[in-house]
Amino acid sequence: MAEGALDIPVRRMEFDIPTADDFDPKWLANDIHQSYFSTGLSLYVAYLEPFLVKSMRKVLDRITDDALRESVDRFSRQEAQHYMQHERFNAAILDKGYPGLEARFAVLKADFERFLETKGDRWCVGFVEGFEALTTQMALRSLRELAREHPKTDKRFSALFEWHMAEEIEHRNVAYDIYEHLYGDYLFRAKMCLIAQSHILKFITDCMKIMSPVDMARYDESYRVTAAARVLVWLGFSPMIVKTLMPGYSPHDYDVPDTIEALSVRLSAEAKSVS
Ligand SMILES: [Fe+2]
Ligand SMILES: [Fe+2]
Repeated sequence: MAEGALDIPVRRMEFDIPTADDFDPKWLANDIHQSYFSTGLSLYVAYLEPFLVKSMRKVLDRITDDALRESVDRFSRQEAQHYMQHERFNAAILDKGYPGLEARFAVLKADFERFLETKGDRWCVGFVEGFEALTTQMALRSLRELAREHPKTDKRFSALFEWHMAEEIEHRNVAYDIYEHLYGDYLFRAKMCLIAQSHILKFITDCMKIMSPVDMARYDESYRVTAAARVLVWLGFSPMIVKTLMPGYSPHDYDVPDTIEALSVRLSAEAKSVS
């Protein structure tokens, strides 16, 4: 895919939204680990993505490259669409009723508010880049694995994630480019990758810990996520984390498969509007 602002279309999508009653927490490929992971991610981005947008808007005027400024604006508008759609799905998750989940979610909200108030622009832009460096790899993997096409996958959630992950790939270079344009400090970027990536994995594994016992009582043993399985989540992501820390890392080096480019075209055709 050619790089540039025009490759970051801002789509307004229309999704079928689940309710708490017809939301099965084991919605992804009948696999409780993958399902909780994606559910936790959906909750996380509801507060992370407004932080991304605010962090980018704070530094927009300092970008001296017109094409990059346009890409940052489009990145922010894509992310704004993402969290607005996730919030609609998250209502079903929270309404399902998980004691402790609302409180953990409130801590997440407070974290991002504190980051914006007390951390400087370099820290916030570094956090955005740390998050994006991980999500680009997660998006490439999830779109390759095709769990969304499994017969026991809830197609409402998979449609949401398919669109979101495709757009993460479309805007994969933006956070890296703005960080390099404004700061370019390798060691600080590496530190922020570790901080941001730990923050998301901690939140998601906390969600697993809160949700699993409730669903085991509500459904059956197949909703069990052990402490060892939560450790495996961290270990499973370690190669991706290490990759983002390598001195030669650049999202410009990814080969995006033709199937994902075709997905971008299909999503634009299905969107309510594209700008
Ligand atoms: Fe996003
Ligand atoms: Fe993103």
